[in-house]
Amino acid sequence: MYRIYIETYGCQMNFADSEIVASLMQREGHTMVTDIEEADYVLINTCAIRDNAEQRIRKRLRELRAVQQRHHQLRIGILGCMAERLQSQLMVEEENVSFVVGPDAYRRLPDILRQVRQPGVKAAETELSTTETYSDIEPVRLGSNGVSAYISIMRGCQNYCAYCVVPYTRGRERSRDPETIVAEARSLFNQGYKEVTLLGQNVNSYHWYNPDDGQETGFADLISHVADISPQLRVRFATSHPKDLSDELLQVMVSHDNVCKCIHLPVQSGSDRMLKLMNRHYDAAWYLDRIAAIRRYMPDCSITTDVIAGFCSETEEEHRMTLELFRKVRYDYAYMFKFSMRPDTYAAKHLVDDVPEDVKTRRLEEIIALQGQIALENNRLEVGKEFEVLVEGESHRSKEQLFGRTSQNKVVVFDRQDVCVGQYVRVRVTDCTAATLKGILIQ
Ligand code: 5AD
Ligand code: SF4
Repeated sequence: MYRIYIETYGCQMNFADSEIVASLMQREGHTMVTDIEEADYVLINTCAIRDNAEQRIRKRLRELRAVQQRHHQLRIGILGCMAERLQSQLMVEEENVSFVVGPDAYRRLPDILRQVRQPGVKAAETELSTTETYSDIEPVRLGSNGVSAYISIMRGCQNYCAYCVVPYTRGRERSRDPETIVAEARSLFNQGYKEVTLLGQNVNSYHWYNPDDGQETGFADLISHVADISPQLRVRFATSHPKDLSDELLQVMVSHDNVCKCIHLPVQSGSDRMLKLMNRHYDAAWYLDRIAAIRRYMPDCSITTDVIAGFCSETEEEHRMTLELFRKVRYDYAYMFKFSMRPDTYAAKHLVDDVPEDVKTRRLEEIIALQGQIALENNRLEVGKEFEVLVEGESHRSKEQLFGRTSQNKVVVFDRQDVCVGQYVRVRVTDCTAATLKGILIQ
């Protein structure tokens, strides 16, 4: 039986996948360890979304050579999107890697670990599946706070946004049986968890057809089934594609207090020409209509986004349209990126990465500066208001303080008094920064 150390990079989906891998390992009798020095195997669950994500993994592999010098028996394996993208080529480029396993092949891991015990043996399993959802695997919650957990509800993506490598690394979209999702959420709640985040690349296209009774389940149905487990269980979800965000979902959010009032709706650009080139299937007017619908149903809903600066042929005017859209929407938070050309994508095959690096950097900085200002102004509007906060842990700054989140996913820090992690408390906001609210408990 082996000792296994796992390290995770990238999106929430990868963190959820590492928990599935840990579960598969424990089933075989292997032990997960948190000290790399004790490990027989290091598994690195990787991200390929931008070039800098891959460079970071390559740097980590160089660092791990020192650990391998001390422990000759140590085997290193690459999991996830970078494994899928580069396949066995990665083991040629990185000599200290013994195996690569793609996101749909984790059930093959126990066999692979056995094979690569032999000195010099290498293995690659990167076949993608149209059906694998790991629906029967109860994930082992790694590094959990015991309060919130991820549940993967679907895998893959076939939207083929022109810049994005995900459809190539994670394969076709497939939804997981809703009964297994609800059962996992119920089991978490029974263990004391208070919040679940339902994960998928495009949750709004979740769809399940049950051949036995002809019943169809869409995402709005799924959310309400999970929310019905208990009013004490908060439900979050990510990520929504603007083209599929339905009023039906917004209505379900309104009708369940425990479905968190927070929507992550990646816009990517404010220019219609860029959106078309990106193959996003909506324009700025459609996007703003969806924002208006969210605000109409839930005036207190927070809205967050992803945006790309400097996509192929983006002009100064088009960049200004993105800034303008940010001013109109007034996001509470944004993940902001410079465009990074990825091999195999539509952009790599048909477009030219022609915005100079310094221009991309400047455009990104302008978006970041604007968004920082808007986030601070939004937070200032919360000062004086009261929120229900789910307590997640001790503040990083002081043992005397705890932090939790509002339904809107805003972090609130407050003096701990006799409050425990996992409790719901009422807090009045007294101060803020762009990233955090500060508050006092209301008894
Ligand atoms: N370059 C920059 N950002 C990208 N994203 C996806 N692909 C790229 C790329 N090639 C961003 C998008 C997406 C988020 C997860 O990552 O904004 O929504
Ligand atoms: Fe990538 Fe677009 Fe799919 Fe999101 S929806 S994973 S950006 S292809």
